[in-house]
Amino acid sequence: MEPVITNATNVKVVDARQIDYSNDFWITDPPYADAINYHELTEYFLAWYGKKLTSLFPDWYSDSRRALAVKGSDEAFRRSMVDCYKNLTNNMPDNGMQVVMFTHQDAGVWADLALILWAAGLQVTSAWTIATETDAIGIKKGNYVQGTVTLVLRKRQSNEVGFLDEITHDIKPEVERQLQSMLDVEDKDDPNFTDSDYQLAAYAAALRVLTSYKQIEDLDIERELSRPRNKNADKSPIESIIESGVKIASNFLIPKSLHDDEITRRDLWRNLSADEKFYIKGLEIESHGDYRQGVYQEFAKGFGLREYTNMLESGKANETRLKTASEFKRREVGTPGFGSTLTRHVLFAISQVVAAEDVSLGLRWLKEEIPGDYWQQKQTILSILRYIAKMPIEHWQEDAKWATLLAGTVENDSV
Ligand SMILES: C[S@@+](CC[C@H](N)C(=O)[O-])C[C@H]1O[C@@H](n2cnc3c(N)ncnc32)[C@H](O)[C@@H]1O
Repeated sequence: MEPVITNATNVKVVDARQIDYSNDFWITDPPYADAINYHELTEYFLAWYGKKLTSLFPDWYSDSRRALAVKGSDEAFRRSMVDCYKNLTNNMPDNGMQVVMFTHQDAGVWADLALILWAAGLQVTSAWTIATETDAIGIKKGNYVQGTVTLVLRKRQSNEVGFLDEITHDIKPEVERQLQSMLDVEDKDDPNFTDSDYQLAAYAAALRVLTSYKQIEDLDIERELSRPRNKNADKSPIESIIESGVKIASNFLIPKSLHDDEITRRDLWRNLSADEKFYIKGLEIESHGDYRQGVYQEFAKGFGLREYTNMLESGKANETRLKTASEFKRREVGTPGFGSTLTRHVLFAISQVVAAEDVSLGLRWLKEEIPGDYWQQKQTILSILRYIAKMPIEHWQEDAKWATLLAGTVENDSV
């Protein structure tokens, strides 16, 4: 027999703070800080259908109710969001659930969301990124995420007190688990997720840890809710924790073509400096034809770099890219920072080989000048050379060709 599915629908336009009936599930798509002024959008459309609306639906109203809209970005936004979510939580049984959709790339806004959900008595129990920017509705150009994070929340039942260092420690496995689950389902040939999506997922994983505690050290919720969010204000400890999630993500997402073997790849990555990781990740992005400025800013944040413009050939929006080995020439070789890293020496060796059209110069440089022992570093040098050799882009063509030849020479070199 066919199952009979019955349902009752009830459409009400009401302020989330005024809801006075209980539901097992609440699914919300809240305004994201100051991203969009929904009340203004509503007024634009009401100009057309405002009159019709009240004749078709006599119980509805046709003004935008500006005063009730959750808006702004600071204390007012946080407090009205807490009031909305507290009310929904109060109107939900203990085994009820909430689903919250959220998209924002700023760690500060995620810190606000953590605070809001936490103050409302909710705990994030799982999170998933779904692709929302599809070809069908048009992909926006620029530094946009392709997905929205969907958070699943329950009433927090725990009485546990968490300490900041302990929480920071717990976040690592949680972020890694979240990213691994995304990598496992990713289509290798036609990827759905961008680095921005992984960053969002890292934020969500950090929220899962943060909101599981009833009390976080001596964090004063009132003070946190009223904390101004601007450049001069102290950063909230919650924001620092959430940022640490992005750092973990940056270290977890290693470019695959650096080495076929995963363990070797992780070892290699671990031994590279933050500047080298930034450069190598940047090349990966470039190899996908991505020239967005914001991607580099996010990487710099993720790897904790203050200065990276010296590595860029162009910093213009949508044209941002790294210098090739030949474009770098001798610049900054041997100076502190990127200049004294193994990657920089390998790049310089390539540029010499390209200029002289002779691999022996490059080999000599590597043997005489690289920091540490050439023989000990040989495998890493080979991996970097081969990584560069695979760059599929026109402005890398010449450097990549000579990197292949230099790699062959290094490989066959013996004591
Ligand atoms: C991100 S949008 C939701 C978009 C919607 N899911 C859609 O696909 O069209 C956020 C919505 O929250 C509404 N909102 C703002 N303040 C509210 C409040 N106090 N109670 C209920 N909804 C509110 C805004 O009017 C806006 O429509």
